[in-house]
Amino acid sequence: MTLVLKLDADHPQPELIAKAASIIQAGGLVAFPTETVYGLGADAMNERAVQRIFEAKGRPADNPLIVHICDRAMLDLVAEDVSAKAEALIAAFWPGPLTLVLRRDPRVAESVSAGLATVAVRIPNTRIASELIRRAATPIAAPSANRSGRPSPTTAAHVATDLDGRIDMILDGGKTKIGIESTVLDMTSEPPVILRPGWVTREQLTNAIGQVGHAASIEELKRSPGTRHMHYSPRARVLLVELKSPASILRKCTDLLREGKVGFIGHTSVPISEPGFSTIFLENSAEAYARSIYSAFRELDERGVDVIVVEGISDEDEGAAVMDRLRRAASSFDRE
Ligand code: TXA
Ligand code: MG
Repeated sequence: MTLVLKLDADHPQPELIAKAASIIQAGGLVAFPTETVYGLGADAMNERAVQRIFEAKGRPADNPLIVHICDRAMLDLVAEDVSAKAEALIAAFWPGPLTLVLRRDPRVAESVSAGLATVAVRIPNTRIASELIRRAATPIAAPSANRSGRPSPTTAAHVATDLDGRIDMILDGGKTKIGIESTVLDMTSEPPVILRPGWVTREQLTNAIGQVGHAASIEELKRSPGTRHMHYSPRARVLLVELKSPASILRKCTDLLREGKVGFIGHTSVPISEPGFSTIFLENSAEAYARSIYSAFRELDERGVDVIVVEGISDEDEGAAVMDRLRRAASSFDRE
């Protein structure tokens, strides 16, 4: 059984943080809220502890983890050659949803980086996360706290659904603020390249450091072994509809209902009242979609739908990150 501790997100109880920190120091696994999604944490400097993360998640060993630190000083334990551009991004965006890929310090457990010479690092922006890292006094490696291939968890209950009994503790700090994962930016190439779009937008990065490279397309990622494991899928088949009229969405859902149960996620109202049809309404904004898309996927899976029709939004600014996740969920590549 996994212990679940309820924390006050604004004023985390020090005695509960201390319990969690002692589990990390002993090589155990603690899930905790960040501002993006819940992470599954272990001591990033302890090889055996990091391996337990891969085992608990069923994560492929060639997919590296993000290391979470609590201040700029801790970065010197995990990374080398921090460039002026990296320093500018750190000053502008940390703590926050920007992960930087830097040269790895050999003290970091090797499996964190899955054999690469680089390490991905960020300072998360919740008090629970920063106080946990500070109290544990070690960098914490933490992928999203879901079973591999499942949507990232945005509540402690999502973590428990996927990992109960497989990890030592869950710190429950309520629903996460942003709801989708951080932007991942590779600082080891020139210009730096966005490996995963996120809440920090391309335009914000360009304003801070000048040119940044394009995020790879799904087609390119299929060919690149390091990143091909990205998928954010519910169990049901996902069909993404972009820029479609309410009438054509209604027709699509009606057609699909002949074959099985259908769930719809979107900002258009679809007037179907059949028992096999469920709908989750989201306001038409990147904020609303990011906050609720993963829990909507999970909820429709629980209702046992066969297919999920999801309505797209504009992919400008923060919408780019949301649409990236929706396109990945809808593509069938690398489903295990
Ligand atoms: O918001 C987030 O980033 C959340 C919270 C918990 O911080 N974490 C998260 O971790 O989404 P994960 O493991 O689900 O995704 C990490 C991504 C993966 O796409 C991985 O391939 C990439 O970061 N990554 C990690 N280390 C890397 C490296 N050295 N080089 C290139 N990509 C790396
Ligand atoms: Mg993940």
